[in-house]
Amino acid sequence: MKVQGKEYRAVWMDGRDVVVINQPLLPHRFALLRLKNHRQTAHAIRTMIIRGAGTIGATAAYGMAQAYLENANLDRAYALLLHTRPTAVDLKHALDRVRAAARTPAEAVAEAERIADEYVARAQRVARAGFPLIKSGSRVLTHCNAGWLALVDWGSAPAPIYLAHRKGRQVFVWVDETRPRCQGATFTSWELKQEGIPHKIIADNAAGYYMHRGEVDLCIVGADRIAANGDTANKIGTYEKAVLAKENGIPFYVAAPSSTIDLQCPTGDHIPIEERDEDEVHYVTISGRRLRVTPTGTQAGNPAFDVTPAHYITGIITERGIIAPGQLRRVFR
Ligand code: MRU
Repeated sequence: MKVQGKEYRAVWMDGRDVVVINQPLLPHRFALLRLKNHRQTAHAIRTMIIRGAGTIGATAAYGMAQAYLENANLDRAYALLLHTRPTAVDLKHALDRVRAAARTPAEAVAEAERIADEYVARAQRVARAGFPLIKSGSRVLTHCNAGWLALVDWGSAPAPIYLAHRKGRQVFVWVDETRPRCQGATFTSWELKQEGIPHKIIADNAAGYYMHRGEVDLCIVGADRIAANGDTANKIGTYEKAVLAKENGIPFYVAAPSSTIDLQCPTGDHIPIEERDEDEVHYVTISGRRLRVTPTGTQAGNPAFDVTPAHYITGIITERGIIAPGQLRRVFR
């Protein structure tokens, strides 16, 4: 996607360096960061300098390729990268692919590039699959950031919206701010602004208000891991939006490439949920400046994801079309 008229991806490889968009600086500053070795790349994933399921997967693949180039211990590099973030299954899929495909550094780089390119190709197909859902005048609610920053390019949940907008359809987006890290308020709104798509950021607890007033036509969210039965892990707060959508008769779609589907995982109960540092709840951080919003000495819980049971999901928008949650095994076996 374009930033100030120039095409970017969220991550790419330049020689032996992995280059990423330095996401914590957004939305106020757009800057790139060079990661010089697989340890720096693992650190960037763990500390969320890059984030989002697909971007995590592609970055991990590049990190694994760096390990080959460095002649590092590949088992240790694999473990280091794998244990950076537990919920997004794209990470494991990407690392396994590089290890299975590569005996030489050149083969590892080539496989990592293929993985990144496939994210882009799949995202464009997700855009086309979801496009018919976006009518002129549609008001779409989304949660967190499943845009191009989160999936190398194009994204998943906003991809049909980007396509509809480029084809001239009037579309409006409600953007949940997505506490505690505010990926909606910072990243999704920034992406939509770059594309010139009308939107409003709303407090996380305002979604029900707008749904009940009839101001939301459909919801589209991304995913970090989809179990074989269709249960879907996505950013914390997704589950309650799905329940509200059902209560208000609003279709609720999940958009994701097939690399996010984990057929080895039978149900959502088996998806590992990342628990993050409670300081993310205690503090608000904007452009590196931290402000505590809770009394000192209080405790906070901070699950990064929740699981939306399949029966709340109208359909899963994938590169193979819109699939009923119960049909995943049949389509992707
Ligand atoms: O913790 P993050 O920012 O890496 O969370 C991932 C997400 O951005 C969302 O859950 C998103 O909706 C799916 S990522 C394609």
